Amino acid sequence: MKKVVFITGISSGFGFEIAKQLVKNGHIVYGTIRSKCETPHGVHVLEMDLTDSDSIQKAIQSVIENETVLDVVINNAGMHSGGPIEDIAEEVYRKHFETNIFGFMQIIQLSLPYLRKSKQATLINISSIGGLTGLPFQGIYSATKFAIEGISQALRTELKPYNVNVVVVNPGDFRTKNTASRVKSIKEDSVYAERFHNSLKIIENDENNGMDPKILAQKVGQIVEMKKPKQRYIISSNFQKLACIARRILPESLIQWLISSHYKC
Ligand SMILES: NC(=O)c1ccc[n+]([C@@H]2O[C@H](COP(=O)([O-])OP(=O)(O)OC[C@H]3O[C@@H](n4cnc5c(N)ncnc54)[C@H](OP(=O)(O)O)[C@@H]3O)[C@@H](O)[C@H]2O)c1
Repeated sequence: MKKVVFITGISSGFGFEIAKQLVKNGHIVYGTIRSKCETPHGVHVLEMDLTDSDSIQKAIQSVIENETVLDVVINNAGMHSGGPIEDIAEEVYRKHFETNIFGFMQIIQLSLPYLRKSKQATLINISSIGGLTGLPFQGIYSATKFAIEGISQALRTELKPYNVNVVVVNPGDFRTKNTASRVKSIKEDSVYAERFHNSLKIIENDENNGMDPKILAQKVGQIVEMKKPKQRYIISSNFQKLACIARRILPESLIQWLISSHYKC
C-alpha cells in the first residue's frame, strides 16, 4: 500500500539511500535538505534545518497541504561530535542537543496528530549503537541518542491506543558523510589529547571500513512495509550485535573494560 513518508536529512548517507529505496517501493516520499544538493529521483524535496523551528513547521505543513495525510515519519538527520566531556565547547554540545533532540522533538509533536489518524502509522527514529552504550569521546553524541531511546520508549506506551508503531533503529558503523562532518572539540592543552586522538583514529577507521548504507536502507524499506514491526532493529556487524547482547548480560565494569580496550583509551 502506498504510504506518505516524511524523512529528514536526505542529502547523503542513510537519508539519501532510504528515500531512494522508498520511492522505488512505490511510496510518496518527502525528504528534507538544508541546502541545494543532489537528491534521489522522485523525492519531494523540502528545505528544513533542525535548529530552525519555523523551517520544521513549514516542512510538515507542506506535506499536509499536499497530501492531507502522513503515514510514516523517519527521524534520520543528525549531527556528530567528538571530544572529551571536560573539554567539549558549550556551543557544540548545545547545538548537538538543538539538532538531535529539540528539532527531533518538534517533528514528533507536529507529526503525531496526523500519525494518530493514519491507519498504517510508523515512526522510525534513527538512534545508534552509541544510544545503548556511552562511547568514550563521543559522550554528547551518545547522550542525544540515549534521549531518543527514552522518548521512543515513553511514546510506545503513550501511543498504545492509537496504533502507531514506534521503531528504533540502531546502526553500527557505516560508511557515510558523518565521519567527515563530525565536529571535533578539544582544548588546545587538553590532558585527554593523546587518548582522544588514538580513539578517534579507531572510530574513523571503523566507520570508513563500515557497512554500506544501502543495507540499512533496504531494512528500513522492509520496516515501512510491516504492519507490526519489532520495536528495535540493530543493524550492524555480528560483532557489534553480540556486544549489544553482552551489554545486557555482563557486569558494567567488564563492558567498560572492553570498550576501553577497543578504543585504546
Ligand atoms: N554512519 C554511521 O555509522 C551511523 C551510526 C549510527 C547512527 N547514525 C545516525 O544516522 C543518521 C544519519 O547519519 P549518516 O551516517 O547518514 O550521516 P550523514 O551522511 O552525515 O547524514 C546526516 C544528514 O543529517 C543532515 N543534518 C545534519 N544536521 C542537520 C540539521 N541541523 N538540520 C537538518 N538536517 C541536518 C545532513 O544534512 P547536510 O548535508 O546539510 O549536513 C545529512 O543529510 C544520524 O542520525 C546519525 O547519528 C549513523
